[in-house]
Amino acid sequence: MFGAFFVVLAASYAAGYSFPDCVNGPLANTTVCSTSADPITRAKALIAMFNTTELIANTDNGSPGVPRLGLPAYNWWSEALHGVASSPGVSFAPSGQFSFATSFPEPILMSAAFDDEMIKAVATVISTEVRAFNNAGRAGLDAFTPNINPFRDPRWGRGQETPGEDPFRIAQYVFNLIDGLQGGIDPPQFKIAADCKHFAGYDVEDWEGNLRFAFNAIISPQDLSEFYLPPFQSCVRDAKVASVMCSYNAVNGIPSCGDTYLLQTILRDYWGFDQNRWVTSDCDAISNFIDHKFVSDLPHAAAAGIKAGTDIDCGSTYGNNLGAALNMSLVNVSDISAALTRQYTSLVRLGYFDPAASQPYRQLGWADVNTPTAQNLAYQIAVEGVVLLKNDGTLPLSSSIKKLAFIGPWANATKQMQGNYQGIAPFLISPFEAAQTAGFSATLTPGTAINSSTTSGFAAAIAAAQAADAIVYAGGIDDSIEAEAMDRDTITWPGNQLDLVTELAGLGKPLVVMQFGGGQVDDVALKNNSKVNAILWGGYPGQSGGKAIMDIVAGKVSPAGRLPVTQYPANYVDAVPMTDMSVRPSSTNPGRTYKWLTSTPTYEFGLGLSFTTFSLSFSGSPSTSYSIQSLVSAGGSSAHLDLAPFDTFSVAVHNTGTVTSDFVSLLFVKTTAGPAPFPNKELISYVRTKGIDAGQTATARLPVTLGSIARVDANGSAWLFPGDYTLMVDVPTAITHNFQLTGNKAQITNWPAAPA
Ligand SMILES: *[C@@H]1O[C@H](CO)[C@@H](O)[C@H](O)[C@H]1NC(C)=O
Ligand SMILES: *[C@@H]1O[C@H](CO)[C@@H](O)[C@H](O)[C@H]1NC(C)=O
Ligand SMILES: *[C@@H]1O[C@H](CO)[C@@H](O)[C@H](O)[C@H]1NC(C)=O
Ligand SMILES: *[C@@H]1O[C@H](CO)[C@@H](O)[C@H](O)[C@H]1NC(C)=O
Ligand SMILES: *[C@@H]1O[C@H](CO)[C@@H](O)[C@H](O)[C@H]1NC(C)=O
Ligand SMILES: *[C@@H]1O[C@H](CO)[C@@H](O)[C@H](O)[C@H]1NC(C)=O
Ligand SMILES: *[C@@H]1O[C@H](CO)[C@@H](O)[C@H](O)[C@H]1NC(C)=O
Ligand SMILES: *[C@@H]1O[C@H](CO)[C@@H](O)[C@H](O)[C@H]1NC(C)=O
Repeated sequence: MFGAFFVVLAASYAAGYSFPDCVNGPLANTTVCSTSADPITRAKALIAMFNTTELIANTDNGSPGVPRLGLPAYNWWSEALHGVASSPGVSFAPSGQFSFATSFPEPILMSAAFDDEMIKAVATVISTEVRAFNNAGRAGLDAFTPNINPFRDPRWGRGQETPGEDPFRIAQYVFNLIDGLQGGIDPPQFKIAADCKHFAGYDVEDWEGNLRFAFNAIISPQDLSEFYLPPFQSCVRDAKVASVMCSYNAVNGIPSCGDTYLLQTILRDYWGFDQNRWVTSDCDAISNFIDHKFVSDLPHAAAAGIKAGTDIDCGSTYGNNLGAALNMSLVNVSDISAALTRQYTSLVRLGYFDPAASQPYRQLGWADVNTPTAQNLAYQIAVEGVVLLKNDGTLPLSSSIKKLAFIGPWANATKQMQGNYQGIAPFLISPFEAAQTAGFSATLTPGTAINSSTTSGFAAAIAAAQAADAIVYAGGIDDSIEAEAMDRDTITWPGNQLDLVTELAGLGKPLVVMQFGGGQVDDVALKNNSKVNAILWGGYPGQSGGKAIMDIVAGKVSPAGRLPVTQYPANYVDAVPMTDMSVRPSSTNPGRTYKWLTSTPTYEFGLGLSFTTFSLSFSGSPSTSYSIQSLVSAGGSSAHLDLAPFDTFSVAVHNTGTVTSDFVSLLFVKTTAGPAPFPNKELISYVRTKGIDAGQTATARLPVTLGSIARVDANGSAWLFPGDYTLMVDVPTAITHNFQLTGNKAQITNWPAAPA
C-alpha cells in the first residue's frame, strides 16, 4: 500500500501512527476497547495491564506503546500552530499525497483580524488536516499548540507565535481556536487534543545570557492573575483544553514543571483541569530542574516532575530515571500510573480504541487537505489581518500606476512568509508574483538583505525605482532575527534597510513600504518621512500572503486589521531589562503594553487605517449608572461570576466614505476606581463587522462581562469597585460614554494564594 510504504520510509524521523486492534488484537474484549465504559475507566483498565517497565517506558513523548498488548507506539509531540507543522510527530511525504498542508499566517497576523469566527474556522481546517495526516500515519492526534503567552516585551523571539499583547484578546482567540481544534467545547470525542503553552510566565528565550532553561520570572500575584494567566484560564476553564504544557522558566523560584501551586492549586483545583487531562513538560524542561538548582540529580528531577503533576516528559528524563526514582522511593507506581491514566484517557477520547465506523474523523483523508475552502480561508484571514499604519492617499494605487519596482528582502518572499512552527505549504505567493498576476508590470531588485553591512545592491535598486511608476519596498525583519531561543537586543530597522528606504524616498515617486515580521520594529523614521507615502504591516502572512497584501495595495480590498501589539520607540529597550516581569510602571520600568506604557508609542495597539471613513455613535442610550449589588445578584446564577454579563453596548458604524470596508470596533474602558496605579485603558470587547458599503450604517454589538469591568487587587482577586468609568471606542478614541458603578465594592473572583 502506497501510504504504508511511506510510513516505513519516514520511521527514522517520525513515528508512524496506527490504531490498536480492538477486534482481533490482544486488547479485544478488554475494558479499554469497550465504548460503553467511561474514558477514565477505559484508560485505567489499559494502564493496569502494564508492568512497571512498560509504565516507565511510556512516560516520555516518544511512547513505545506495549507490543505484547498490541498498543502501538505514539509520539505525543506533533505541532500545528498555523497548519500541520514539521515536528518529531509529523512526517510530510517527499512528494504527492501528504507532501503539504494548508499554511495559514502566524497567529500574530491572524489575531490582527479581530475576527473570532474566522479563528474557529481556521482551527477547524487545521484539525481536519491533522486528522487526515493521522489517518495516513503521518501525525499524532494531539498537537503542542497554541502558544498563548502574552507578547509582553518587543524583544521576545517568539512573539509571532502568539495572538499579541492583550490578555483579553488572547483569551477570546484561544477560546475560539480550541473550539475549532478539539471539535467543540469539551465534546465526548475530541477531534484533536490541543495543548496550551507555556504555563506560566514564559517569554524570555536568551536575553543577555538569561537563558529560558534557568530563568526565574519574578511575578506578583496581581500581574499573574491579571496579565499572564487570563489566556490560560480561558483555554483551560472555559474552552476545556485537553492538555497544558508547563514552561522552562521558574516562577517565583520554582520551575513551572515542578510547581504544585501552578499545576495543582491553579490549574486543577481553581480551573477544574480534571483527571482526563494531562500536562506535558516543555521539551527537556524536567532535566532543566538541575539548571534551576531545584534538585541535584535526574532521578530527583523525574520524581519532582511527576509528583507536581507533569504527566508527560517531552524528553527522556522520566524514561531514563523513574526506575532509579522508584528504587529510591522518591515516587511509587501509583504516581506513575496516575500520570499515564490521564494521558491515555485523552487517547480514549480521541477515539483511538474505538471501531473506525463509530468514529467521526476516521474517514478524513488526502481529499480533505488544502481544499478550496481551506485555501480561501488562508487568503481571507491574511487579507483581514494586514494593518495599514500610514497612508497619505497613495493607497490604493491609482489606476494610472502600471509599473512597480519591487525592492527589499521580502519582495520575493516565499518560505519567509510562513515564519516558524511551519509545515510544507502547497504554494507560496510572494508579493512580487502577486503583483504580476494582478496585471502590474513589475521588476524585482532586492537591493539589500535583511541585515547586511554592504550597500553594493543599492545602485541597481535605485535604477529600477527610477524606471517605475511607483516603488514597493518589502522588508522588515524575519526569523533570522526573531526566533525560538533568540531574543533581540534592538527593535530598530536594520540600518541597511533604513538607508535604502531613505534613498528611495528621495526619488519622489510614490513609495509604499510593506513591513513584515512578527515583532514590531520602530517605524519612526518612516512615519516622520513624508516621502514614505504608506506603510502596511503583514506579519508572516502564510501561503497566500503576497496576494493578500497586493490586493490591498491595488484597492481590491480595504484594510481593516488592527495592531495586536504596541509598536514601541527604539529606546524602549534601554528603559527596562527584558527580565523585569512587572507590567506596571515604576521608577525602573516605563510600563508594558498599551495598558501601562507611560511613554508615547510609535504606533499604538489597536491602530489600523482604512480606505474609507467611518463615523461612530452609541445606539440607544447606554446606561449611565449600574448598581454593583444588582449586577452581582443578577450574575449569581453564572458558573463563573467574571463571565456574567455586565451590559451589551451597540455602536452605529456609518461608512461615510466611498468604498466598502470591514470595520473592527474596539471597546476600551478607563477608570480611576480600585487600586492604583490605573491602566491607560483596557480592551473589554470587540467585533469585526464585514462588508459595510459606502453610505451604509451597521450596528456593532459589544457584549461586556463583569470580569472585564472588574479590577484586580494586589492578591490577584477581581472586584467591582464603585466610581467613575469611561467607555472609549476605536483607536484613536472616536467616541466615549461615561457611567458610574454605585454601591459597595464586591469581590467576584477569589484568586488562590501561593504557599508562603
Ligand atoms: C471477543 O469476544 C467475542 C465474543 O465473546 C469472541 O467471539 C471473540 O473471539 C473475542 N475476541 C478475542 C480476540 O478474544
Ligand atoms: C514487562 O513486560 C515486558 C514486555 O513488554 C517484558 O519484557 C518485561 O520482562 C516485563 N518486566 C517485568 C518486570 O515484568
Ligand atoms: C532497582 O532495583 C532493582 C532491585 O535492586 C534492580 O534490579 C534494578 O536494576 C534497579 N533499577 C534501577 C533503574 O536502578
Ligand atoms: C504513592 O504516593 C502518593 C504520594 O505521591 C501517595 O498519596 C500514595 O498513597 C502512594 N501510593 C502507594 C500505593 O503507596
Ligand atoms: C522568486 O522566488 C522564487 C521562489 O524562491 C524563485 O523561484 C524565483 O526565481 C524568484 N524570482 C526572481 C525573479 O528572483
Ligand atoms: C544586524 O547585525 C549586526 C551585526 O551582526 C548586529 O549588531 C545588529 O544588532 C543586527 N541588527 C538587527 C536589527 O538585528
Ligand atoms: C518624529 O516626529 C515627531 C513629531 O513631529 C517628533 O517629535 C520626533 O522627534 C520625530 N522623531 C524622529 C526620530 O525624527
Ligand atoms: C491580601 O491578602 C493578605 C493575606 O490574606 C491580606 O492581609 C491583605 O489584606 C490582602 N490584600 C488585599 C488588597 O486584599
